[in-house]
Amino acid sequence: MERTFIAVKPDGVKRGLIGNIIERFERKGYKIIAMKMLQPTIEIAEKHYAEHKGKPFYNRLINYITSGPIVAMVVEGDNVVKGARHIMGSTKPDEAEVGTIRADYAQTMEYNVVHGSDCVESAEREISIYFKPEEICRDWKTTLDLIMEDGK
Ligand code: RTP
Ligand code: MG
Repeated sequence: MERTFIAVKPDGVKRGLIGNIIERFERKGYKIIAMKMLQPTIEIAEKHYAEHKGKPFYNRLINYITSGPIVAMVVEGDNVVKGARHIMGSTKPDEAEVGTIRADYAQTMEYNVVHGSDCVESAEREISIYFKPEEICRDWKTTLDLIMEDGK
């Protein structure tokens, strides 16, 4: 099953939106298989956003993502990388589709409350930055899985 890396960014945490943001992914039926709160160090932030090094917004991005705790998650589901990005909405909140997280909760691209990996390779790379393999709860079953098994 495909996995992605999702994070409630520091502005999402500071605004009290942790529950609202996690709920979007849970209600879709995606399975959260790892989660923790941490304040990214500069080293972690630079690894995470290595692809943006040298861009005009890079220093502000590193300052932003290290400015407070984030809630980091590994989320599993069918085509979850693309599906989670769809739920998040466009990087620019004023262009994000109505009903997406960024359309509902953010005003500017700089403070857009949530992160999601942009492809499967990025997801695996980002998961390995934030989580050790033993921190990922791979094998638990949802209640629906258990009910389906009982019914056999
Ligand atoms: P993310 O990686 O955080 O999920 O966001 P994204 O894929 O939608 O956008 P990306 O292009 O990867 O940019 C990463 C984050 O950098 C900030 N940004 N600022 N001022 C600017 O032009 C600018 N461009 C990007 C945003 O916080 C964006 O989410
Ligand atoms: Mg990105």
